[in-house]
Amino acid sequence: MSSNIVKIFDTTLRDGEQAPGCGMTPEEKLRVAHQLEKLGVDIIEAGFPISSEGDFQSVKLIADKIRGCEIAGLCRANFADIDRGWEAIKGAENPRIHTFIATSDIHLQHKLKKTRDEVLEIISTAVKHAKRYTDNVEFSCEDATRTGLDYLCRAVDIAIRTGATTINIPDTVGFTVPEEFAYVIRTLKEKVPGLDNVTLSVHCHNDLGLAVANSIAAMKEGARQVECTINGLGERAGNASLEEIVMALKVRNDRNPFKTRIITEQIYPTSRLVSQVTGVNVQPNKAIVGANAFAHEAGIHQDGVLKEKSTYEIMTPEEVGIPSNKIILGKHSGRHAFRKRLEEFGYFLNDKDFETAFKQFKDLSDKKKYVFDEDIEALISDEFLRSSDFFKIISINFASGTDMRPVATIKILIDGEEITVSEYGSGPVDAVYKAISKATGVTPNLQSYVVAAITGGTDAQGEVTVRVEEDGIVSQGQGANTDVVVASAKAYVNALNKLRWRKEHPRRATTTGV
Ligand code: KIV
Ligand code: ZN
Repeated sequence: MSSNIVKIFDTTLRDGEQAPGCGMTPEEKLRVAHQLEKLGVDIIEAGFPISSEGDFQSVKLIADKIRGCEIAGLCRANFADIDRGWEAIKGAENPRIHTFIATSDIHLQHKLKKTRDEVLEIISTAVKHAKRYTDNVEFSCEDATRTGLDYLCRAVDIAIRTGATTINIPDTVGFTVPEEFAYVIRTLKEKVPGLDNVTLSVHCHNDLGLAVANSIAAMKEGARQVECTINGLGERAGNASLEEIVMALKVRNDRNPFKTRIITEQIYPTSRLVSQVTGVNVQPNKAIVGANAFAHEAGIHQDGVLKEKSTYEIMTPEEVGIPSNKIILGKHSGRHAFRKRLEEFGYFLNDKDFETAFKQFKDLSDKKKYVFDEDIEALISDEFLRSSDFFKIISINFASGTDMRPVATIKILIDGEEITVSEYGSGPVDAVYKAISKATGVTPNLQSYVVAAITGGTDAQGEVTVRVEEDGIVSQGQGANTDVVVASAKAYVNALNKLRWRKEHPRRATTTGV
């Protein structure tokens, strides 16, 4: 009997980061990695070290700093990737080389231009090479669900014979459906006896919205590792969402009798952090972590929940870490209460940073009657989650109205030098953005601009998310303030900093080819 413990392999920092505009700096990735450690994931896939200098640095930083989780680095099935991957992860307590090659005929013919036998040879050579560095080697058959089953069995068999300790079966293009995927996993288990001695893993993409269902179907056939991401972030329609898998196992354990090590109360803080760092908002109706996931709008539902929560709630917001008492601090709250609240969120600031945060909190509570949990998160994210800031706003002033031409003046620090620029625009945001672009010399295309109120009330902070593009590179930024024009400026500058970082750290390779 195999154990009912399913390992959670989080690939937010690798597959998640591959989503357009989700690039993270090494410091940002490290912050997310610390939170993933707190969440209790078993393995963090920290990146794809050969793909760029920045990704190499990120993986290395995480491998050197995080303890308590295995750290995996993705490598194609060739020596250069594996050597570079090992360089990045070797400082980890338990490093894992994750090597892969496509096995479907479509990929073999059109992408790799290799025969099936040649690919088997590449698998064997790559796994043996990885084994020279570590015993902990994962092998993935990219596009496994569109691979002929007999050939898939041969590929898996050779990977195990040459030393892979985890075999991963990805549904790379999100094409499979639960019964079919269950059949693939069952057949592999029957035909490749060596699978009983290694961990069988699955990695599902969500193109048909079935990634979580497919992952759970595979567990029932013996998969004991699941690869997933926070908020379901990832290529195209994303990967299987960690929070949905974990809660589906917890809430319906009668039907899905598996356990994970995840501390479910850390789910929501992790979701918020990933959203803030990547600038990707979570859709309001997203299961588990969306803003409406626990909101009851219809009168009949509200009435039921007030009488007995279980009438319409299958789990509680507290179970996934959504704060229940949202009004937390006001104008008269002192340092002690503020520090305690920060620590409840998991922010342990040094004295200097704490004083900065406290001052920001006081300024905010002068403007707002009540400071909510979400306000504190936005404040921390604005002040302390922004890293590698090449451009830093010092001040923004603007004027607009029905009887005047909107104008903005921005004072900005650019690599240590202070610059002041004024510009007119069609509205205050346009004027501010023009001034920032003039000062920084960066004029990307603004692909999207979204404002949302963080909490209710007219004194609420606005959270602005922007997406910009220049020379094919996309980046996203977020900013929050009680003044939406200031929030807009912060979001734009955040996106420009990320764009600049991305340009300085171009990706060398893609996930295709060997
Ligand atoms: O989707 C996929 O096939 C992957 C592999 C590299 C595991 O991300
Ligand atoms: Zn993937």
